[in-house]
Amino acid sequence: MQFKIQKGNGLKGEITVPGDKSISHRAILLASLADGNSEISGFLEGEDCLATIEVFQKMGVNISRREGVFVVEGKGLKGLKDPSGPLNFGNSGTSVRLCSGVLAAQEFSSTLIGDSSLSSRPMTRITEPLGLMGANTSSTEEGTLPIRIEPVDSLKSIKYSLPVPSAQVKSCLLFAGLYSQGITEIEEKIATRDHTERMFEQFGIPIDVSQSKGAKLIKLNKVEAINPTDIDICGDFSSASFFILAALITPNSKLLLKNIGVNPTRIGFLHALRHMGANIELQNEIDSFEPTADILVRTSNLKGITINTNLVANMIDEMPAFFIAASLAEGTTKVKDAKELRTKESDRLQVMSEALDSFGVKFRLEDDGIIINGLGKTGSFKAAEINSHGDHRIAMASSIGSLRSEGETSVLDCFNVNTSFPNFIDVCKEVGINIEKV
Ligand code: S3P
Repeated sequence: MQFKIQKGNGLKGEITVPGDKSISHRAILLASLADGNSEISGFLEGEDCLATIEVFQKMGVNISRREGVFVVEGKGLKGLKDPSGPLNFGNSGTSVRLCSGVLAAQEFSSTLIGDSSLSSRPMTRITEPLGLMGANTSSTEEGTLPIRIEPVDSLKSIKYSLPVPSAQVKSCLLFAGLYSQGITEIEEKIATRDHTERMFEQFGIPIDVSQSKGAKLIKLNKVEAINPTDIDICGDFSSASFFILAALITPNSKLLLKNIGVNPTRIGFLHALRHMGANIELQNEIDSFEPTADILVRTSNLKGITINTNLVANMIDEMPAFFIAASLAEGTTKVKDAKELRTKESDRLQVMSEALDSFGVKFRLEDDGIIINGLGKTGSFKAAEINSHGDHRIAMASSIGSLRSEGETSVLDCFNVNTSFPNFIDVCKEVGINIEKV
């Protein structure tokens, strides 16, 4: 599937985007492990989160959809049943890594598989620490899927300092920690998204979060039972980021994005853009278990900046969109400490650099980042053919970038946009973007 996009002008409108992907996965996991029924509204019905639902349905959890609300009939921490067959996580790194923490503690064996992209992503980052907890896991020699998990008598708690800034690794260990004798302690030197910590609190699971010597320390005790809880999920900031970008780079534009998650560990993109001079206002801020706001964005002249470590971790999924913003800014933008981008649905440093090259942008690619020479406020991209390599975020970032190209741009391999933003094309059309699926 490819998208064809025309140069844009005057984007206008008030829009919502689908539910947050990270929060949707976590809601299904915890609701499935709770004792009783939880109702989840605003759930992201994209392929990644639907894969999580199917995995738990295969393990005997009834999950039904009633008028847009998902009702999960939780089976309790020890109530999952043997899926008798492989569990398929499709394209979803979050799902496979978080579920591994749960599966390591079950009394049945499991085999975890995924699509070709997921099957090439690193899994030793979870199998190693799970092994320290006493879990019995094996993967391929390269440390990739399929993962096989065999039952063990019990898991023991560990103290673990995350070697890479990864919320998926942290969350995998927190899910395993629910079942582990003693107190699981996780140290994070670079803070990553904290949806698991917040969702544990929401489900009444005691979790202690503190700061020590500049690092974050999370402590969790084994739990006996989880209370069912209703969850209302806000719009996904990562999906919103494409429309923030669209409004900023397209002349004469003004967009209002309603009810978007603005968890402080997720909005590095917003801070980076404001540093670059972006005109972005937050309105109607609500401080609930996951803070939300309406985001008003107007066309802006951007200036290049330098970003590294902490900001990178808080905008890791927005980097493809950020590279487009940087390419249209005045001056040079430097991104450092971003090697994690090479372990995503594609090698996002490599694949985005190919996209920028096709757009006619000058840059220097480094092992852990990129230096981009912006084209400036009057600059435009060459009309191009971009290969997204099946990476949803590259497909969407390049499509939005095409709003500033000289003619029609084609973006190839866009089928995986369905993993995170199934109605992307409809929302594009709603704000006046001329885009077609072919
Ligand atoms: C996610 C964590 C991030 C992010 C992914 C979602 C999560 O991955 O890229 O899209 O929901 O925990 P890492 O933890 O590997 O950085």
